Amino acid sequence: MLTKYGNMHLFTYKLVAPVPSLTALHTFALPSTANNIVKITDSQQLTKIDWQRRHLLLGEGSNTVFIDDFAGDVILVANKGIEVTEHDDSYHVRVCAGENWHQFVSYCVSNEIYGIENLALIPGTVGAAPVQNIGAYGVEVKNFIHLVDGFDIEVGQFKTLSAEQCQFGYRDSVFKHHYKSRFVITHVEFSFSKTWRPNLSYGPLQSLKAPTAQQVLNEVIKIRNSKLPNPSVLPNAGSFFKNPIVPEKHFNSLLARFPELPNYPSLPGFKKLAAGWLIEQSGLKQEKIGGIAVHQQQALVVVNHGQSTGNDLINYIKLIRRRVLDKFNIALEPEVRLIGKLGELTLGDIDDR
Ligand code: FAD
Ligand code: EPU
Repeated sequence: MLTKYGNMHLFTYKLVAPVPSLTALHTFALPSTANNIVKITDSQQLTKIDWQRRHLLLGEGSNTVFIDDFAGDVILVANKGIEVTEHDDSYHVRVCAGENWHQFVSYCVSNEIYGIENLALIPGTVGAAPVQNIGAYGVEVKNFIHLVDGFDIEVGQFKTLSAEQCQFGYRDSVFKHHYKSRFVITHVEFSFSKTWRPNLSYGPLQSLKAPTAQQVLNEVIKIRNSKLPNPSVLPNAGSFFKNPIVPEKHFNSLLARFPELPNYPSLPGFKKLAAGWLIEQSGLKQEKIGGIAVHQQQALVVVNHGQSTGNDLINYIKLIRRRVLDKFNIALEPEVRLIGKLGELTLGDIDDR
């Protein structure tokens, strides 16, 4: 600050505590800050937090993108521990929310507990896995979740939710609706049958002949490494948009125009389409705003080549959505959670910027 003193100008400095950076706490790595970062290593700490302050729950930030500096506290869920109970025909595994997902998958396979090997190498924590019901290569985590334990912020109590109460759907659960931002998942309990058969429903896995779970895990890692950028090399947040689900009538009219349109079964009367294909066909592999672009091997993954701002990303999201809407009459919805100064941004907030 420049202060006038008599005829002289003096520089005076006000000492302020450094603002914590979020850049390394989200895999999209846009520069951003929070007011405070509170790390939870024991679930009892949750009863001591002042929840009236603006806050945001965070695991490893691989499905969260900080667009602006967040004017609130980030609550990092980082409790650790895995407990296995053996039953006659199954294993029950209770896992603390802060455990790393891929390490948990590897732990299961190396302890001969099978079922989630198709979900290998998905970044993030165990606690975030139920939030969007993570899925890949023909498997969704909901198939193995027995219950979810957590802290209900609104009533200030710990609660247990059965798998049914979690209302899992494609990239969806009760944690994105009724319990959005109000339920801190502290533990997830999984149930794995001792009778195991590999799930090879995803085309490229069908080349495996009577594989072991370890071989399935290795193949999934190989496929993922060939398509998906490693966030620590090229920052990204995985699939940026959900694959759209459209009524069959709309699908049939598109198929008449684009006979090669990839499509998958969905609810009766609907088809799921591949957003990556729609984005590539809209010419977006040739587009860049600042350092923001789509990945050349997988157009559904938006990447940050660096030197990018939150506004570059907002403009790129608008560009993708406009192009796909104009060409296919489909409004893509973000899969990632976009966080602005005051909290999560809606599509309306994005359109208004
Ligand atoms: P964060 O980004 O930290 O949080 C995600 C959301 O969950 C936020 O809204 C946050 O508030 C909330 N949350 C986090 N922890 C808790 C908690 N303990 N209690 C309550 N709410 C909480 N996803 C897939 O489904 N399939 C894939 O194949 C896949 N591949 C990916 C590949 C790459 C390269 C990347 C970067 C991401 C990929 N993702 C995929 C997305 C991501 O890995 C998952 O969504 C993952 O579960 C996010 O975990 P996280 O701890 O990083 O969550
Ligand atoms: N495609 C293209 N061009 C592209 C990208 C994809 O033509 O640039 C085509 C592919 O050729 C294929 C189809 O689109 O025919 C689907 O592609 P892919 O099998 O790679 O899967 P996806 O539908 O793009 C989904 C999940 C991924 C998950 C994979 C594997 C969503 C939003 N994404 O991607 O999850 O790993 O299937 O099961 O459902 C994530 O959620 O972050 C994520 C990475």
